[in-house]
Amino acid sequence: MTRAEARARLDALWRRGTAFLGSEVAIMGGAMSWVSERNLVSAISNAGGFGVIACGSMTPRQLDDEIAATRALTAKPFGVNLITMHPELDELIGVCLAHGVSHIVLAGGLPPGGAIRRVKDGGAKLICFTPALSLGRKLVRSGADALVIEGSEAGGHIGPVSLTVLAQEVLPHLTEVPVFVAGGIGRGEAILSFLEMGAAGVQLGTRFVCATESIAHPRLKQAYIRASARDALPTVQLDPRFPVIPVRALVNQGTERFMAHQAEVVRRYNAGELTREEAQLAIEHFWAGALRRAVIEGDVENGSLMAGQSVGLVTREQPTAEIIAELVDQALAALMARSSAAATAAAD
Ligand SMILES: Cc1cc2nc3c(=O)[nH]c(=O)nc-3n(C[C@H](O)[C@H](O)[C@H](O)COP(=O)(O)O)c2cc1C
Repeated sequence: MTRAEARARLDALWRRGTAFLGSEVAIMGGAMSWVSERNLVSAISNAGGFGVIACGSMTPRQLDDEIAATRALTAKPFGVNLITMHPELDELIGVCLAHGVSHIVLAGGLPPGGAIRRVKDGGAKLICFTPALSLGRKLVRSGADALVIEGSEAGGHIGPVSLTVLAQEVLPHLTEVPVFVAGGIGRGEAILSFLEMGAAGVQLGTRFVCATESIAHPRLKQAYIRASARDALPTVQLDPRFPVIPVRALVNQGTERFMAHQAEVVRRYNAGELTREEAQLAIEHFWAGALRRAVIEGDVENGSLMAGQSVGLVTREQPTAEIIAELVDQALAALMARSSAAATAAAD
């Protein structure tokens, strides 16, 4: 198989994804709060992928500026990721629609029916996350135009199931809409194998944090480059009475202090010094603003260094276009190696 033939095969495998996204390659840059802003998003889209702005806690005004600034840097399509529990979700959707944003991702929980209708009536394509097959089917019935399944290998807020298992649970059965897979993907061979299982495309976050165009602080990039897969661990919950939302991040002094903080809060609750609600809030507030501290201020000891297990595959700062070209090359090399192995076996 020639390289051109391999490329044609790869393009056929992810055609559903590229057609849906309007991109050259079906590689989405997963929205990452503070990281996925105009520079990285436009760089991913300009390199043929599909960048997604992370709205995070931005106000409608800030999102308005960010979309306009991203537009100024790329003529290619990009999406916007909105967190469903944002208090101004409706206004944020309005901002996206006013800009004619083609794809809106509703993340961070089951999207409310009103938000789904608003996105659809406004003419944007709706992408939702599903943690399981049954919910995926429900989201498609409610109007989702595409789904993302994200395994627990991913960086940031995670569910309990790995992508290896989630992909087997969902991909063979949910074929009505394109399904993108996320979590732990760092090389082209892995992309190829998920496409062959039926994925329409992939979403990568961690792999893009150290892109040259990423505004992440140099100290955060250094921490990423040094880390191995086993340094990216989910937050640990100390007491079953006080739930902690699992977030995968590089362990640092902050993660250690979080354990001590939980222990102290539980002690004060047991001593009657705090109500249950106060104790839960005290635990939740520990990480408030921590991702910004790490990404923007470079506080790698106390901030939250959200990262997926694929952080072990991040070995240097690289231009976004080079990262995408490398992923495509690895997928093509795998296809070519396989066909030459098959030819050798046939000749034997
Ligand atoms: C630093 C960081 C911040 C993230 N922030 C968000 C977010 O704001 N919204 C969201 O839907 N996903 C968020 N994610 C998840 C990514 O969009 C993506 O799905 C995930 O990184 C894919 O797994 P990977 O990191 O193994 O590639 C974040 C991930 C990281 C590493």
